[in-house]
Amino acid sequence: MGWRGAGGTQCPAPDCCKEGKGRMRTFILGATGTIGAPLTDELLRHGHELVALARSDAAERDLTAKGAAVVHGDLRNPHEWAHILREVDAVIHVAATFTEDMGAVDSGLLDALLAEVERAPRPIRFVYTGGCWLYGATGERLADESSPFDPIPAFAWMVENGRRVLAAPNLDAMIVHPAMVYDRDGGVLRRFIASARDKGHIEIWGSAETRWPVVHRRDLAAAYRLVLEGGGPGASYCVAAERGVRVGDIAGVLARRFGLDKGPLVRSTTEVVAEQGAWAVGPTLDQQMSGAGIVQELGWSPAVTDILSEIA
Ligand SMILES: NC(=O)c1ccc[n+]([C@@H]2O[C@H](COP(=O)([O-])OP(=O)(O)OC[C@H]3O[C@@H](n4cnc5c(N)ncnc54)[C@H](OP(=O)(O)O)[C@@H]3O)[C@@H](O)[C@H]2O)c1
Repeated sequence: MGWRGAGGTQCPAPDCCKEGKGRMRTFILGATGTIGAPLTDELLRHGHELVALARSDAAERDLTAKGAAVVHGDLRNPHEWAHILREVDAVIHVAATFTEDMGAVDSGLLDALLAEVERAPRPIRFVYTGGCWLYGATGERLADESSPFDPIPAFAWMVENGRRVLAAPNLDAMIVHPAMVYDRDGGVLRRFIASARDKGHIEIWGSAETRWPVVHRRDLAAAYRLVLEGGGPGASYCVAAERGVRVGDIAGVLARRFGLDKGPLVRSTTEVVAEQGAWAVGPTLDQQMSGAGIVQELGWSPAVTDILSEIA
C-alpha cells in the first residue's frame, strides 16, 4: 500500500485510489519545464494538491490556470520561500537553471530545503532528479539503478547532491534518472527541429551512431507520479522507454518530416563544447539505459515505445 497524504483525502483518479494512495499536498519546483509541465498536469489529474514555485508572472498565470497554487520565488533565493515545506507532504524537484553555476545554485537550494525538513514534524517525501548523463558513455553496457556513476563533468554536482538528499534525516527521498526527454516537437528534439526550420539541415553533435535512451515526457510524468505515490525511500529509478536509439535515425525521420534535401551536419564534440559550454558533452554520449526497474517495482507502463513512429 502506498504512502497516504497527511490530509487523508481520497484521490479522484480511479486507478490511484484502488491502490490506496492518498492525495498529497506536493510542492513542485520547475513546474513549467520540459519535465515539470506534463508532470503538473499528471499530478493534478490524479487528485494531488499542488503548490508550484514560479519566478515570473507568466509562469504564475499558467500554473494558476491549471489549478496549482503558486509561491513566487527564485531558485537562487530559497531562504525567501523554503518555509512552504512546513505546509506540504512532499516535494518534487525538477528545476534547473542550466547556467555555469547550476550546481552551486542546486547546492544552495538543498541547504535551505534540508534545513526546513529537519524542523518538520514528520518525514517529507522528496523526489530529486538525476539523469542518464550521470552514467557516462555506456556503449554496449545497459545502465540501470545498480550501475556506477560516471557523470559528465558539468553534472558531477548532481551525483553529490543526490547522495546528500538520500542521506538527509527526516526525508523519505527517491531519485528519478530520466532518459533523454522528448515529445513530437520538443524536449531534446527542439534543437533538431529549430535547425531543420531555420537552416534547412539537422545538426548532430558528436556522431550519428550515438545512441540515446529516450522517454516521452508524458510517460516520464506518469513515472514521477508513481515514484511520488509508491516509491521506496532511498530508492532510485532509471526511466527509459527505449534503451538506446541511434541519433542518426531520429535525425533521418525528422529530415523526412520537414522535407529536407540536405543530410545532417555532424559537428565534433570539441567544437560544440567550445560553442555551447561543458553541458554539450551530454548529447554526444553513446548510451543505453534500462527502465525495467520501475516497470517491475511500480508498474510503470510507457504508452510511447517507438520514438521514430511518434515523431514521423
Ligand atoms: N530534459 C531532459 O531530457 C532531461 C533528461 C534527464 C534529466 N534532466 C534533468 O531534469 C531537470 C529538469 O530538466 P528540464 O529539461 O525539464 O528543464 P527545463 O525545461 O529547462 O525547465 C527548467 C525549470 O526550472 C525553472 N527554473 C529555471 N531557473 C529557475 C530559477 N532561477 N528560479 C526558479 N525556477 C527556475 C524553469 O522555470 P521558468 O519557466 O521560469 O524558466 C523551468 O520550470 C534538470 O535537472 C535536468 O538536468 C532533464
